[in-house]
Amino acid sequence: MHRLDPARPRPDRVLRHGGGETALYLGAGALERAAPALREWTAGRQAFVVSSPAIAAAQGPLVEAIEGLAEPARRLLLPDGEAAKTLASAEALWTAMLDAGGTRDSRVIAVGGGSLTDVAGFAAATFLRGIGLALVPTTLLAQVDAAIGGKTAIDLPAAKNSVGAFWHPALVVADSRPLATLDPAEWRSGLVEVVKIAAATDPRLFERLEEVVDGLAPGPCAGGGGHLEEVVGAAIDAKIRIVESDPAEAGPRRVLNLGHTLGHAIESALGYRRLRHGEAVAYGLLFALRLAAARGASPDFAARCEALLARLGMPPLPPLDPERVMAALRHDKKARRDGLRWILPMDLGRVDVVRLAPEAVRADLEGFLAAPWRR
Ligand SMILES: NC(=O)c1ccc[n+]([C@@H]2O[C@H](COP(=O)([O-])OP(=O)(O)OC[C@H]3O[C@@H](n4cnc5c(N)ncnc54)[C@H](O)[C@@H]3O)[C@@H](O)[C@H]2O)c1
Ligand SMILES: [Zn+2]
Repeated sequence: MHRLDPARPRPDRVLRHGGGETALYLGAGALERAAPALREWTAGRQAFVVSSPAIAAAQGPLVEAIEGLAEPARRLLLPDGEAAKTLASAEALWTAMLDAGGTRDSRVIAVGGGSLTDVAGFAAATFLRGIGLALVPTTLLAQVDAAIGGKTAIDLPAAKNSVGAFWHPALVVADSRPLATLDPAEWRSGLVEVVKIAAATDPRLFERLEEVVDGLAPGPCAGGGGHLEEVVGAAIDAKIRIVESDPAEAGPRRVLNLGHTLGHAIESALGYRRLRHGEAVAYGLLFALRLAAARGASPDFAARCEALLARLGMPPLPPLDPERVMAALRHDKKARRDGLRWILPMDLGRVDVVRLAPEAVRADLEGFLAAPWRR
């Protein structure tokens, strides 16, 4: 039987899934607390530390510390940001791992934002039919969302996240200190996913955000103090609850796609440029509020949700041709013969899931793209 060393720090959270468990280490000092587990998990194996030049520049000591724990580690760098989520990146990783003598018991440790953890996770899920994965998310968005729940993906030019696999990490190390070098816009993008999780599943977290969100936002990003760890921890708890209740996204987990139906279409229509993922999701969430309003949603909740998003300080929605957005909607991987699935926020913690053909939202969409904010 595998025995835990009693001196080894316990993970802060454990996510249980069909293939086993993910141990999560959270907050300031997470790396030090995870170090014995990371060392043990990589002992005697070839580890590949996947990151990007920008992350290695901003977080050099973090990347080096992980390499030190996973010796002999080999560093593999991918392009920065969403541009990394391509078949070419996955192929580059597969080839580099094969050339370096990677085997079924090799390990991948991804250090970066959600783009990087998505593509490195996909490469780990598919290399030799799947090798061990650990994630060290370095953006707020990746810590509260992308690194939790086992979804991995790359994009095709016509549709985001259209190729992927479920592949859970063995370990997640979400240390708050690397967030200090985040651009304020990345910070805001991550907060949108926190608003999404809270609006769909956690009224208490939503109310807490209403109280403390201004103290969390930009400034020196690490300046959220105690509230930061509280909010990140609550968002992660909410995500763990919903993933454990529906690991393969057959039902309840779909609510986390709130804001993503239009959000992904906006990202695709903009060529994955100009808006960050969370910013596009914020506009998707505003549009979902508008569709919900026409179907009996609480006007009070809609106003609170829009006000919370406005407080994050969103960049304006770039001008978009409705036809391009409609084309992207038609490509949505969630589209079935009977229409696209929309998650409609009806009230705090209550969403409805409806099917609507892209054509059925065209008139609303045209009005929305011209004037996305109601307030
Ligand atoms: N798998 C999932 O369940 C899931 C969930 C939500 C989002 N996602 C995906 O996550 C992606 C978005 O992730 P993201 O918002 O983390 O963006 P990102 O990974 O594209 O990173 C954004 C930028 O931040 C930089 N960066 C990362 N960490 C930094 C740090 N500590 N200091 C300074 N700069 C740093 C990166 O180099 C990059 O330029 C999207 O592709 C989205 O589809 C996946
Ligand atoms: Zn998202």
